[in-house]
Amino acid sequence: MARRPLVIGNWKMNLDFVEGLHLVQQLGVLLKHRPLEYTDVVVCAPFVDLRTVSSVIDADRLPIEVGAQHVSAFDNGSHTGEISVSMLQRLNVSWILVGHSERRANYAMSDDVVAHTLRAVVRANLRAVLCVGEGLDVRESSRHEEFVGSQLEHALREIDAPGRELVTVAYEPLWAIGTGETAPSEQVSEMTAFVRARLTKLGVATPQVLYGGSVNGENAATLVRDSGVDGFLVGGASLKAESFVAILHACDDCYARKR
Ligand code: PGA
Repeated sequence: MARRPLVIGNWKMNLDFVEGLHLVQQLGVLLKHRPLEYTDVVVCAPFVDLRTVSSVIDADRLPIEVGAQHVSAFDNGSHTGEISVSMLQRLNVSWILVGHSERRANYAMSDDVVAHTLRAVVRANLRAVLCVGEGLDVRESSRHEEFVGSQLEHALREIDAPGRELVTVAYEPLWAIGTGETAPSEQVSEMTAFVRARLTKLGVATPQVLYGGSVNGENAATLVRDSGVDGFLVGGASLKAESFVAILHACDDCYARKR
């Protein structure tokens, strides 16, 4: 049987808590009108939206889980401006993105910091979405497998077997993020298979691999059908209820046909 799809919306630094509230309410209405049968849904809201978003999901019993876009690797203390795993847990956050390429590139998130952060997340028994992916220069010099393989190994090296089962991997080639240029299905398919095989080698019993990079309602069905991904990490198209729900339904329909 095919693996259950998972679609995660990454709002990035968009939507204040009022706008976030509206979006989640709209998602609720659309999903009530046409419920999903198989697809799991997560929204990763900005920190300041989390309380509101999590309250409305809880009050309206929406079939959506709450995620954060980042977290500190430290438990508490003198880390001005940072947010800890336990603070997020108190807000019913159950998923955390770790090592998104924008954080790696713009906020000095090295492989070591990614590994440290991932350990903090799984230690608390939360689900982590480890983001990996190569830049265009790496792809053009055919070093993408070596590069992504090393990101995976570095991140998972010091995580024990139960902890590794809490890690979902999002493969996001950098040139496809926010550009409108989705990676071709064959490339996504190759890299999904590569990541899955590497995770299996690292002892992960049920590897879950998502794709991210300019996913929208039009290309989601093809990607899910042709590339063997378990779902998507969606940026731009997750900011509008209609476009996000189109992706969710595309995944759900494909899964229904595959079973
Ligand atoms: P995008 O972003 O869908 O806007 O390309 C994906 C991501 O950054 O996770």
